[in-house]
Amino acid sequence: MALLRTMEVLGIDFGGTGIKGAPINTVNAELLAERVRLETPQPSTPEAVAATIIELVKHFNWTGKIGIGFPSVIQNGVVLTAANIDKSWIGVKVNQFLSVKTGCEVFVVNDADAAGLAELHHGAAKGNNGVVMLLTIGTGIGTAFFNKSELLPNTELGHLQFNKETVEKYASDAVRKKLDLTWKKWGMRLDEVLHYYEQLFYPDLFIIGGGTSKRLDKIEEFITVKTPIVPAQLQNNAGMIGAAMFANKK
Ligand code: BGC
Repeated sequence: MALLRTMEVLGIDFGGTGIKGAPINTVNAELLAERVRLETPQPSTPEAVAATIIELVKHFNWTGKIGIGFPSVIQNGVVLTAANIDKSWIGVKVNQFLSVKTGCEVFVVNDADAAGLAELHHGAAKGNNGVVMLLTIGTGIGTAFFNKSELLPNTELGHLQFNKETVEKYASDAVRKKLDLTWKKWGMRLDEVLHYYEQLFYPDLFIIGGGTSKRLDKIEEFITVKTPIVPAQLQNNAGMIGAAMFANKK
């Protein structure tokens, strides 16, 4: 029983519009309680986000480890970028900051890398020994890159220059909403991006995560890349589950 408890981690996914959390069994990726989603505070400053995370901690009456997927490059527990969150996050020693705020042991990882880890162990990339590229598509576009089940952390391929902007500014779900693009128009944009990635990296598999994982059927007919493409099996929970798995290994 004591052993089991150590495998339970509160998984949190910090997104551009919502902060979601649930206690996770990191061995089988099961959610141990219904997931809770709170609005991401605007501006999403460290203090405001910490207050939202504390709400989640209180809701679950949590005292154990916490794993958080962050929409940023995270190196040695420090936030290095802030494309879609408040810029004041840059330079924050985030593991330390949120551990003090919550009174729990907190470990932060890039959100796409978290989703990739979950899919590698429990989802669409399980058993795949090749080059796997996961795209998490929401407010931004995040990427997780694996070769032979090894993660290359903090790849930021959503920020590659593309069509005079960046991939993320051309084809994210937020752009679809902002420009009110039809599924066809947006699907074709995503297809262009996938062709670009295909030419550069020749992956064996594309996995689509984030909210888009549930809507891949709407755009499938416009996707023409040769590389097989599948939705994240853990859907929009992949980030939360992977973040919990990451923290469990620490
Ligand atoms: C960030 C990435 C993140 C992605 C998805 C991008 O803007 O730079 O770190 O993975 O959004 O949230």
